[in-house]
Amino acid sequence: MPRGSEVLRRTGGRTVKSIVYDEAAIAKKVAELGAEITRAYPDGELLVLGLLKGSFIFLGDLVRKIERPLQVDFLVASSYGSGTTSSGDVRLLYDPETRLEGKHLVLVEDIVDTGNTLRKLLGVLRERAPASLAICALLDKVAMHEPMPEVRFVGFEAPTAFLVGYGLDHAEDFRHLPFIADLM
Ligand code: IMP
Ligand code: MG
Repeated sequence: MPRGSEVLRRTGGRTVKSIVYDEAAIAKKVAELGAEITRAYPDGELLVLGLLKGSFIFLGDLVRKIERPLQVDFLVASSYGSGTTSSGDVRLLYDPETRLEGKHLVLVEDIVDTGNTLRKLLGVLRERAPASLAICALLDKVAMHEPMPEVRFVGFEAPTAFLVGYGLDHAEDFRHLPFIADLM
C-alpha cells in the first residue's frame, strides 16, 4: 500500500478497517453502468439528477461514461445526522431548477440503505411528470430493504457494513477517499 493511502485511511480521528472496493474495481463498474445507461435510453431527453452530497464523485465519473446527450442537475436531501443509523426523517433542502417534465430522469444515489430517502424523493419527482424515472445507485444494501423496482442500475450489492469514501461520508469525513472502505 502506498504511503498516501495510509494517510487517507486515518481521518477525523478514525481509521478505516479495510478497503472493500478499490479504485480499479470502482472505475470498471462505473464504465459498465455508463454503457448500460447509454443503451437504456436510445432517444428522448435524459436528465441525470445527482443526490447530494454523497453522489458527487460517482456522478462526475458516471456522466463521462454515458455516450449520449444529457443534462445534469442536483437534489439535496438530508436523512442522516452525524450517527451511522437512519433516522427515517428525510428533508428536501434543494430542488432541481431544471424542468423535469417529459424527460427521462436518472436519479443518482451513492448508496441505498433502508430506501427511505429514495421512496420519499420518488414521490416528489413523479409529481413533475417525467417521461420515465429510474435510480442508479453505486451501492445497494439489498439486505436492508424490500425490492425496489425503480433501482434499475446498481453498481455493487453492498454488505451491511458502514462504508465510506468515493463520496460516502461519516459525519462529513472520508468523502474524498478514492476507494470505498469499511469504517467499523
Ligand atoms: P436510506 O434512506 O436509509 O436508504 O439511506 C440512504 C442514505 O444514507 C445514503 O444516501 C447515504 O447518504 C446514507 N448512508 C446509508 N448507508 C451508508 C453507509 O454505509 N455509509 C455512508 N452513508 C450511508
Ligand atoms: Mg450521507
